[in-house]
Amino acid sequence: MKKILDMQVIRISIPAPGYAHIVLAADSPSELPECTPGQFVQVQIPDHDTFLRRPISICDVDPQEGTLTLLVRDAGRGTRNLCHLSAGQTLNLVLPLGHGFSVPENPDSSYHPLLVGGGVGVAPLLYLARAINARGVRPDVILGARSAADVLLKEEFERVAHVFITTNDGSEGVHGLVTDHPAFKEEHSVIYCCGPTPMMKAVAAYARAHAVPCFVSLENMMACGLGACLCCVEKTVDGHLCVCTHGPVFDINALTWSDHA
Ligand SMILES: Cc1cc2nc3c(=O)[nH]c(=O)nc-3n(C[C@H](O)[C@H](O)[C@H](O)COP(=O)(O)OP(=O)(O)OC[C@H]3O[C@@H](n4cnc5c(N)ncnc54)[C@H](O)[C@@H]3O)c2cc1C
Ligand code: FES
Repeated sequence: MKKILDMQVIRISIPAPGYAHIVLAADSPSELPECTPGQFVQVQIPDHDTFLRRPISICDVDPQEGTLTLLVRDAGRGTRNLCHLSAGQTLNLVLPLGHGFSVPENPDSSYHPLLVGGGVGVAPLLYLARAINARGVRPDVILGARSAADVLLKEEFERVAHVFITTNDGSEGVHGLVTDHPAFKEEHSVIYCCGPTPMMKAVAAYARAHAVPCFVSLENMMACGLGACLCCVEKTVDGHLCVCTHGPVFDINALTWSDHA
């Protein structure tokens, strides 16, 4: 069930220049609603002039501790403000929002998932990787970044997944795009992806060509986050749908992306 919740910043760190990893705690663990991987929060920016809340993916949740983690990229005034928070400050969130990734409750031996994240798009994939690992499967994860300094959450992913890296400048892992990594071409039963749209389109084109089920998390611009303003619509095979309520995670077969877009 959706809630409006005040949470306190208990830790904030800088995993790479221009990014912040923010751990928030509810007053008591029972206050934190159940959140599934791929869902997001709408954050009230704690200043006096940013009117609209900003959508940020749920990067991780610890229901026992009542904590929720966000990974934020400084992309403008609102996210810069979040990157400069201090421990002890309070954030007001609406959560959990949208529909996330589906993970089989009892995966059989044919379940061999690949998670592909680019830039800050790795954020929702950490909670997903942990959820898959908790069901007894160690997923493959490809993390794409501009350079070694921008590889995000590598150690956190390594605790629960087989991690492969690509960088645009070749400073770590395979030189090139996520689709250039040999692990990308291995046989997988499903691909989950989040990152820049051209990256997701390239991953979707490969998945479609090889008949691999594929789910992508869209980051269309949002205002209300609740299905009321229609500013986040995406064209789908079922007409225009709000990404905030029908997504952000979509089966690529529901999208009208062409293979070469
Ligand atoms: C479902 C969802 C999940 C998201 N998860 C995360 C996350 O985990 N971490 C994170 O750092 N960011 C995430 N984003 C993107 C984040 O919401 C935007 O970067 C943020 O709203 C920009 O606000 P701002 O005030 O900093 O920048 P603004 O001053 O509003 O805009 C600065 C620049 O960012 C661009 N921008 C605005 N909204 C978006 C968007 N949705 N996607 C890409 N560019 C945008 C603007 O066009 C402009 O060029 C997510 C977005 C969505 C829709
Ligand atoms: S953001 Fe308002 S309808 Fe989706």
